Amino acid sequence: MLRYLFLLLILYWSCTSSRHNLPDAVVGEVGSNGMIVTANPVASEVGARILQQGGNAWDAAVAVQFALAVVYPVAGNIGGGGFAVYRSADGTSGSLDFREKASVHAGRDMYLDQDGNIIDRLSLEGHLAAGVPGVVDGMVRLHERFGSLPWEELLAPSVEIANSGYVLTEQDAHNYNRAQQLFKKFNSPDMLFIKEEGWEKGDTLFQPDLAATMSRIRDRGRAGFYDGETAEFIIDEMQRGNGMISQEDLDRYEAQWRDPVKGNYRGHGIISMPPPSSGGIALVQLLKSAEAFPIGKWGLNTVSTVHVLTEIEKRVYADRATFLGDPDHYDVPQEMLISDDYLAQRMADIDPKRTTPSQEIKEGKVDIIESVETTHFSVVDKDQNAVSITTTLNSYFGCKVIVSGAGFFLNNEMDDFSVKAGVPNQFGLLGSEANEIQPEKRMLSSMTPTIVEKDGELLMVVGSPGGSTIITSVFQTIMNVVDHDMGMQQAVNAKRIHHQWLPDRLIIEDQALSAKVLEELEHKGYEISSRGAIGRVDAVLVLPDGSLEGGADPRGDDRAIGF
Ligand code: GLY
Repeated sequence: MLRYLFLLLILYWSCTSSRHNLPDAVVGEVGSNGMIVTANPVASEVGARILQQGGNAWDAAVAVQFALAVVYPVAGNIGGGGFAVYRSADGTSGSLDFREKASVHAGRDMYLDQDGNIIDRLSLEGHLAAGVPGVVDGMVRLHERFGSLPWEELLAPSVEIANSGYVLTEQDAHNYNRAQQLFKKFNSPDMLFIKEEGWEKGDTLFQPDLAATMSRIRDRGRAGFYDGETAEFIIDEMQRGNGMISQEDLDRYEAQWRDPVKGNYRGHGIISMPPPSSGGIALVQLLKSAEAFPIGKWGLNTVSTVHVLTEIEKRVYADRATFLGDPDHYDVPQEMLISDDYLAQRMADIDPKRTTPSQEIKEGKVDIIESVETTHFSVVDKDQNAVSITTTLNSYFGCKVIVSGAGFFLNNEMDDFSVKAGVPNQFGLLGSEANEIQPEKRMLSSMTPTIVEKDGELLMVVGSPGGSTIITSVFQTIMNVVDHDMGMQQAVNAKRIHHQWLPDRLIIEDQALSAKVLEELEHKGYEISSRGAIGRVDAVLVLPDGSLEGGADPRGDDRAIGF
């Protein structure tokens, strides 16, 4: 019966919509022997050089991760964590979880006062907000399993750039300037990033402490970070600011290989990140639910498309809040959530005439504060090995604490836990028992590094920063290619929309929707607000002739380099 209702609903929509004009076609960087797309031109050059030296996609990815920690410290990092999804040229795929963990000393109520109220900003700023970093262990493991060039060669560019300095872009200067007050609050006055007169485009930043840390990692691998001098700097920093990370935490940290989440969308294979990311499950839920509707026929950002995507997104984000957490600590019902029967039932009450108020889908009332300070990069090598990595400090510059003497920022990933059930985090996302704090647990993420296949071959490598908007940015980029026949750059450029169940508000990029579409949606009961940018997608598409098109997001300094 529910399936029948669902089909009727789709029929109704098919008869009431018309195709919308697509944005101008633009073609991104094209290459046949490799493609790399990152948030920073210098990091892209580092990755391209590794590929040109004969390194494979994993070598380039490791070098880029370290380079981003030097030239894009707002989100690139060694003091945070991330996820890698890969697909080898032979078609095998997998994922590596190097997400941060809670300290062994962490506890459910660590951010609450005696009355059970949240202590303002304690999970967001300062030393106690930091989870145990996972990046260095993750990169060591990726390289051990897949690397072809010596480890030292992958670290060499980062050591060199940290020592010799790099020139700030306008966005870099803006990022450094907006964090000045918080840098001063949590660091000593001689902290490298503090500059009374303000940073400007064209300034050069030299990072000798970070260069020394990178050299220790280059020479000692994992031990160069989790042990010895770097570990001592971290512990000293924790003691200075009442943080929690101990030598025991560093010793116990291990990245985890995990089976990726797999799904299908209109004949395309989807390979994405499993829990502790919510991204893969939510993406597959979104795509499978959208598959029932003629999105391509309706067109980009038409009333019907926006309405159905929004209604699906509300239900998927409500599931996210209830069912998703670290699978090592909580039994995530993954199979059920992405099953056809469940999704047909879950979407059956979508009303084509009006938007369902989120309160009717599930209880809750929250507010949203946006941040996009995660970063994603995509790599494909000459053999079409593909690596998709999203990595984060959480907020911009993480908890704003630089490890004194070691020169890198620590994350504030603890805020991605549900600090108190029913109270939203900085992205306005709610959580429940599934994502409550426990010792050594990983906090739930939205990061969605993804790979798409067509006819058993590599088609696309895609991902985005953007907190809660990551999942919907990846979702729309895939649909832009599959449903709207766009190339990679065009798909990345296209305007985006986002709904996350709560708050009950459709967010759109400026000019994403025409006045007529806006009017019709408001008539259906939508509350809509617009903003400058949603997500920053960096992606690669395999073109029909086998060459690679990079899509670097024009919303940032992002750069694709192919050859
Ligand atoms: N810190 C953002 C995320 O992991 O989703």
